[in-house]
Amino acid sequence: MDYKQFVEEQITAIRRAVGDGLAINALSGGVDSSVLTVLGHRALGERLKTVFVDSALMRQGESQNVVKSFARIGIPVELIDARVEFLTALRGLTDPEEKRNAVTSTFYQKVFADLVRETGAKFLLHGTILTDIEETVAGIKRQHNILAQLGIDPEKEYGYQVLEPLAALRKDGVREVARLLEMPPEMCQRIPFPGPALATRIVGEVTEERLATVRRATAIVEEELGDSGAFQYMAVLLADKATGIRDGRREFGQIVVVRCLDSVDARTATAVELPWEKLHRICEQITAIEGVNRCLYDLTPKPPATIEYV
Ligand code: XMP
Repeated sequence: MDYKQFVEEQITAIRRAVGDGLAINALSGGVDSSVLTVLGHRALGERLKTVFVDSALMRQGESQNVVKSFARIGIPVELIDARVEFLTALRGLTDPEEKRNAVTSTFYQKVFADLVRETGAKFLLHGTILTDIEETVAGIKRQHNILAQLGIDPEKEYGYQVLEPLAALRKDGVREVARLLEMPPEMCQRIPFPGPALATRIVGEVTEERLATVRRATAIVEEELGDSGAFQYMAVLLADKATGIRDGRREFGQIVVVRCLDSVDARTATAVELPWEKLHRICEQITAIEGVNRCLYDLTPKPPATIEYV
């Protein structure tokens, strides 16, 4: 693909669609939505309002980091606190698709619909990529940002139109576009992070307490594997528990899984052969988290596994 031409075409298409109206987009801190934000601002300038929705599902320090790094390239990002809405929608849910649906509908029916009403924007720019569409259509997983492909008409249902400028690209293509847009490495070389965020890394119910555990474990894994060169790495909190010993007493504790994968485009992936010493260091820190007494390293490739657990 000629990415330079792709970028020009998308900028023209966004301008043509939005006309002299307003658009909004939500940054998740992941590569796709970051690239979309920069592309959208090239096309629309101040007529694109970018928000970062604090869904309570984000990584440690994520909102501040994202707002700061975009401020450095001249793109203002507004922080929206929707923690209560998301936690309420997820309360009591354990089924993976129900959890994904709860995140999707809170985003689109509640948070974005309110924003659209408040700002008068008629368009929502979306960072959907081809892999999201393919896997949703194939019924593997409902990616949070897929609407039209599932027969949902956002204009009818939510009152705004959705534009998906990256829908022809896979992850490697998104990175090419990032390079062309001269995005700083801390933005485009970030590992992928899913829109439904830490909710995809908690098997079972998503509660504030369980989020705090997986958030802490994620920070440890990201710190330790930041120089691994891997495609993606993460911590996952399982719903099962295991017996262990803490301070000389029996403890029925939580289990955290560590995953570190090589991949080009997230369609297939293989576990990285990490040094034993590195794994030990991660295990030691993760089992120091309150209530966690087991840390496992997941060797399963995709397929048969997917990258995320939910
Ligand atoms: P899976 O788990 O399907 O993940 O093998 C493939 C890639 O997509 C990311 N992912 C998502 N990204 N919304 C996103 O924006 C989602 O709902 C979603 N689910 C998974 C995942 O992190 C991996 O890079």
